[in-house]
Amino acid sequence: MRKVKEQAEVVYSTKERKLSSAAHENIGNTAKVNLNQIVNGDCLDMLSTFPDNVIDLTVFSPPYDGIRDYKKNWTFDFGTLGKHLYRVTKDGGAAIVVIGDGTKNFAKSLTSFRLAVNWVDEGGWKLFENVIYKRDGNPGAWWNQRFRVDHEYVLMFFKGSRPKTFHKQHLMIPSKHAGKIYSGTDRLTNGGFKSIEPKAVNPLKCRGTVWQYSTSNTEGNKLKLQHPATFPDKLAEDLILCFSKPDDIVLDPMCGSGTTCVMAHNNHRKYIGIEISSEYCEIAQKRIKNEFLPEQKKMF
Ligand SMILES: C[S@@+](CC[C@H](N)C(=O)[O-])C[C@H]1O[C@@H](n2cnc3c(N)ncnc32)[C@H](O)[C@@H]1O
Repeated sequence: MRKVKEQAEVVYSTKERKLSSAAHENIGNTAKVNLNQIVNGDCLDMLSTFPDNVIDLTVFSPPYDGIRDYKKNWTFDFGTLGKHLYRVTKDGGAAIVVIGDGTKNFAKSLTSFRLAVNWVDEGGWKLFENVIYKRDGNPGAWWNQRFRVDHEYVLMFFKGSRPKTFHKQHLMIPSKHAGKIYSGTDRLTNGGFKSIEPKAVNPLKCRGTVWQYSTSNTEGNKLKLQHPATFPDKLAEDLILCFSKPDDIVLDPMCGSGTTCVMAHNNHRKYIGIEISSEYCEIAQKRIKNEFLPEQKKMF
């Protein structure tokens, strides 16, 4: 732990220290955590110092199946991480994991499925939804012996009897048949038919479970692209707006270039980022300096 703290000292500049000067906030009855900071260290070590029931929302994407070259061989003990996150999450809080599966000798690793089953069976979590994150891929990509993978999973877990926050207004999409009168019949479970009262179709409808985003390559953020495996800002923002409220605490235990932290701050949430690589911590710190919106420009 001592070494980890020293590493963290290295990545904080004087200006960033000022940013987090009010960051030592008492959010539990007995213990404190550092808010609005990127901490350089191993997430399991760091989380073990957190008090219980303090985090509202966790959004992160772990390294999986050696798909990206992070220059170091980071290991990811997802079972232990799931238990740590469960302990530090408030009742009704959520944890969202953006993850895919590698392929070896034509066979999928099933890492994402194993994580989901493990977190539910062993970690105490409930699975709220498994959304497909559909990525725009490289134009014209051609793989001979298998499909071109253009999706990852967004595993959405919650703690307790129900998610305490769920706002989906910003996720609504236009209805194809907006304004038209809908009538007809619905099929009953016993095979029969039931006529539907004619009604106008709403202009907007609820988003489904396939969410499409362009990859970070098209965001035009050169600093962010110095990290090899980032998720889109908009994906993080949509999740933060859906599963947290202003002033809530949003955690990213493997924050990479700091996408979750930037989006949390710019939407009036408090953030905690943990990242094992001091090189990536520096990228995240620079993004915080460059991309944080001034108070009056922040959007709820
Ligand atoms: C997929 S990247 C996250 C990228 C991030 N979502 C973004 O948009 O920039 C996964 C990150 O986990 C970090 N990591 C791996 N093992 C870790 C650990 N035990 N504790 C903290 N961070 C870790 C890696 O260094 C890497 O930056």
